[in-house]
Amino acid sequence: MLPQWIIEKKRNGETLSDEEVGLFMGGYVRGEIPDYQMAALAMAIYFKGMTPDETATLTRVMMQSGEVVDTSSIRLPKVDKHSTGGIGDKLSIPLAPLVACCGVAVPMISGRGLGITGGTLDKLESIPGYRTGLSVPEFIRVLQECGCSMIGQTDRIVPADRKLYALRDVTATVPSIPLIVSSIMSKKLAEGIDGLVLDVKCGRGAFMKTRAEARALAEGLVGVGRAMGKKVTALITAMDQPLGRSVGNALEMIESIDILRGKGPADSTELTLLLGSEMLVLAGVAPSVEAALPVLRSKLESGEALERFKKMVRGHGGNTEVIDDPGRFPVAAVRIDFLAPGSGVVQEADAEKIGRASLVLGAGRAKTTDVIDPAAGLSGLVKIGERVEAGQPLATLHASTRERIEAALPWVRQAFVMGEEPVTASALVLERITL
Ligand code: URA
Repeated sequence: MLPQWIIEKKRNGETLSDEEVGLFMGGYVRGEIPDYQMAALAMAIYFKGMTPDETATLTRVMMQSGEVVDTSSIRLPKVDKHSTGGIGDKLSIPLAPLVACCGVAVPMISGRGLGITGGTLDKLESIPGYRTGLSVPEFIRVLQECGCSMIGQTDRIVPADRKLYALRDVTATVPSIPLIVSSIMSKKLAEGIDGLVLDVKCGRGAFMKTRAEARALAEGLVGVGRAMGKKVTALITAMDQPLGRSVGNALEMIESIDILRGKGPADSTELTLLLGSEMLVLAGVAPSVEAALPVLRSKLESGEALERFKKMVRGHGGNTEVIDDPGRFPVAAVRIDFLAPGSGVVQEADAEKIGRASLVLGAGRAKTTDVIDPAAGLSGLVKIGERVEAGQPLATLHASTRERIEAALPWVRQAFVMGEEPVTASALVLERITL
């Protein structure tokens, strides 16, 4: 079977067999099939799609292209959470130790921020000494000791995705549901988990701008998870305004610590609890979301979740002094309040524009090789529906230079729309998909 025959079949809208998907991807990972043929197949998939079975096969083949973490030495149920990425979405950080306090192991392999969405690894690395690059045996050791560990992708996990994602990035084939589903699920299932909760972000600051797109992605992700014998639930959640009140790496760490202390903003705390409840249900340690919620809340209030987080940070070589005293996190040289020009109710706080401002301030990367500024970002963000008087801050901007602040200000100015009408932000959870 020649690679071009497989490309031709997909180009004509036919369904590829398991053998054809396996042959093609195997050849690509071994370097026998060149990038130009993989690019042609990716474009054919972009236009013709894949059936749920084909997507599941592609996911399995990609997952098996590298190491699948052997978590069999951990006797607890193993459940993770994946977010498709949003502005101010720091929830993995409080969630992993919180859920670990309830007898569930959370083996989390996370990513870095790119473009306007932040990444868990960059946030964790604002803790002095925290090593995100643990080896797999070290990852297992921290999991055994703490019930949770958060590391970055290793070279040996899903090499097929590493190669294919870079190619998709430069061939305009990223926004294809089967390709996104197989990319995300191959990496998550390589963690050796029993269950996965997906937070599919929807709205201005998300990859998926509409409910229909978010639902198609959520159904694809849940379908593949099920086909591979895992318990999977997806929540479609609102991403029109940033989550919480801070955007930026150290700033989001400080908010995560506030959530773990039970003193976080209402929205980021509530979504942490809801996602955590879904994780406990999938793990079989709670009969329902309603039963799980008070258990999780008590772990925040008692300080147990915060202690668990400190233990994990120590396991990764991190210095926990910043957790006891968040004032020790890196602080930006220039901090400027952006003041409300008039009194009114916040009608919009556009997540995408705030994400762009954060990038310009230095908190994000335009390309993977850029160096981020851990102290940069925005704090004290007002939320939709809040009333502000003229001259009160709508946000505080943090950057290393005044020039960066000046460059970010137009985005912040455009992000906030004030009015007289009382408004309520949309519900945090828009839909729950279990199939
Ligand atoms: N995130 C991934 O890991 N892969 C994609 O294809 C898109 C988002």
